[in-house]
Amino acid sequence: MAISVLVGTQWGDEGKGKIIDVLTRDVDMVVRFQGGNNAGHTVEIGTEKFVLHLVPSGIFRNNALCVIGNGVVVDPLELTKEIKELRERDVEVSPKRLELSTRCHLIMPYHRIMDAMHEQARSEGKKIGTTKRGIGPAYADKASRIGIRALEMLDPKRFESRFREQAEYYNTIISASAMEALDIDAEWAKLAETAEFLAPFVTDTVLTVNKAARENRNILFEGAQGMWLDVDYGTYPFVTSSNTTTSGACTGSGLSPKYIDDVVGVMKAYTTRVGAGPFPTELLDDTGEFLRAEGHEFGATTGRPRRCGWFDAVASRYSCMVNGIDMLAITKLDVLDKFEELKICTAYEVNGERGTDMPSDNDEITIAKPIYETMPGWRSPTCDARSFDELPENARLYLNRLSELVNAKIGIISVGPNRDQTFTHNG
Ligand code: GDP
Ligand code: IMO
Ligand code: MG
Repeated sequence: MAISVLVGTQWGDEGKGKIIDVLTRDVDMVVRFQGGNNAGHTVEIGTEKFVLHLVPSGIFRNNALCVIGNGVVVDPLELTKEIKELRERDVEVSPKRLELSTRCHLIMPYHRIMDAMHEQARSEGKKIGTTKRGIGPAYADKASRIGIRALEMLDPKRFESRFREQAEYYNTIISASAMEALDIDAEWAKLAETAEFLAPFVTDTVLTVNKAARENRNILFEGAQGMWLDVDYGTYPFVTSSNTTTSGACTGSGLSPKYIDDVVGVMKAYTTRVGAGPFPTELLDDTGEFLRAEGHEFGATTGRPRRCGWFDAVASRYSCMVNGIDMLAITKLDVLDKFEELKICTAYEVNGERGTDMPSDNDEITIAKPIYETMPGWRSPTCDARSFDELPENARLYLNRLSELVNAKIGIISVGPNRDQTFTHNG
């Protein structure tokens, strides 16, 4: 495998968790590099279903060390809860299996309140529909140079004074709103306990990752969210607050780009989005409802129904270009099994003009009219296929067309949520 970055190529929830788990069979290390517990990565093993938010999806295979890199924003209370829940289900999560970067910025209780406050203050049509996990405010503090980092948990006195100072500052803002101010003593009590629990996991992971790279270990970087939620390239301002694209793997881990061998793009065979913002191929009709029901499209983090639509080749081609995708992992092909025909968006029409590149302006994406081509469905189950040749002919034609339109080869195909419902393809 060498050193690979895996990213979501759409609006998140492409099935990254499942593909990471499958690929981890052959890797020594899995590294999260951005985002936080806004992510919900599902791994299904036999009859067991796990949803991970901060712990890398490689945790189920003992051969891999899991690393939470410096680019991740970590809610210490949530990470503690996640580790404990995994342990209760007999998954080994010790400091031997999981490392947390000294440089991670921490999501504090006031960040969660600020996230909710900002959303409440936004007028209708402007609300982002965040996960309310405090992601944006924590990254804002990092950029404003007032954030608290994981290394501060190693010195309880220092952590306490930093927390109290920041919490008091935020309480002046919170008190001026309709929100209830933080009970600083009560919050500190919880944080002190959690800091003690997490301290053994905290280490300089830049050294860990670089050592592994120098020793030619196989490393897999686990992206969270997806291309169109990237703070630079996404449908701004309806985005998350980190770089979800390939380059984020380097800034979020401390590994030089010269080590990256290849990039895997996870791509659903159709499109979904959770939260607000433009979505040109969204289906607000029975077909959209049908996709949601067939694909069980409900958020893994917030449980919100995901918006569903046809495959968007305009957005996906641009995404493959920015991410430098070497190999696509196409997921949820089985969800399309019952359709008589399928549509693929090949161009947008904006103000009467047709284009095949994603506009940079959100206002243009909002009014873009999708231009479709139609392909016949296959109307037979694909969930038992274990090779490209075992797929119905129309499914093969559909996949080949996606690959051609987005300009990237297909390397993995997923036909169900389970580990074994996956096969490789040399497309
Ligand atoms: P992630 O955030 O990219 O890891 O994706 P999520 O876990 O949020 O959402 C993907 C959902 O689709 C999960 O419920 C997975 O179990 C499920 N899933 C993944 N691959 C497939 C597939 O090929 N077919 C079906 N039917 N479900 C899949
Ligand atoms: P995974 O890793 C899908 C969306 C939210 C919202 C926007 C900003 O499971 O693919 P935030 O809380 O990050 O400030 O919210 O981003 N969002 C996701 N959508 N999958 C995710 O993660 C997401 N993480 C954030 O719904 O629209
Ligand atoms: Mg998800």
